[in-house]
Amino acid sequence: MKGENASLPSPSRGKVSRERVTDEGKEKTNKQRPHPPLRGAPQEGAENLFFLPLFHFGGAKMKLLIAYAGKTGGSADMCALLASLLPSHAATVCDLSKTDPVLGDYDYIVFGGAVRFSKLCRPARRFLRAHEAEIAALPHTLFLTCAFADQFENYVDMIFPASVRDTAEHTVYFGGELDPRKAGGLDRILIRAARNRILESEDRDAALPGLLPEHVRMLADALRGR
Ligand SMILES: Cc1cc2nc3c(=O)[nH]c(=O)nc-3n(C[C@H](O)[C@H](O)[C@H](O)COP(=O)(O)O)c2cc1C
Repeated sequence: MKGENASLPSPSRGKVSRERVTDEGKEKTNKQRPHPPLRGAPQEGAENLFFLPLFHFGGAKMKLLIAYAGKTGGSADMCALLASLLPSHAATVCDLSKTDPVLGDYDYIVFGGAVRFSKLCRPARRFLRAHEAEIAALPHTLFLTCAFADQFENYVDMIFPASVRDTAEHTVYFGGELDPRKAGGLDRILIRAARNRILESEDRDAALPGLLPEHVRMLADALRGR
């Protein structure tokens, strides 16, 4: 892992949701994380975002690309959920580690992926580098899947260039997991270590993170009006 630290960042304090833990023999209860689910780009009438159809495509289905890269299935699951919640859109879910989609074929892109060592997962990083101008020119939403909720805003600023960040309609936190059962090799060791740091923390607010399908649902509500 060239140029990457060999341990995960420290767990966040008081910003992640609590979940019941059974596989490590310890239990913590659920508590919602306080992070706002959608961060919209400042635009006139933004407060009506959930209700305003901003423009139409002459009755044709909007061609929506949901493009992501992840490693342990969390981003994939959240992207599949988003597509399933938008049956009246022609939604294509694209794993960027397998496919290089042609952006000209789409009206809208939801783009993002997993954060690893404070960087976007490599296939998404490559895609962003190659297609930054095209993404910026298309109506788009950005998302990140990451375990440390309190770092979300920092990651958005570090990972996405201003050209796509400032033009994004929404920037959404999909949550993130630390589940060693979904990883192998060094990843599993690192996840276990990060997880144990949380479970053994003296901090009463420290808790394991989880994916946030409710944030995906809110995004689907916002996109449904398009
Ligand atoms: C090797 C490794 C590095 C990670 N680095 C970070 C990180 O820097 N920041 C963070 O918030 N989460 C980090 N995570 C947690 C992942 O973002 C989290 O597990 C996420 O749910 C993975 O999404 P995916 O299932 O789509 O791969 C890391 C996980 C692994 C395995």
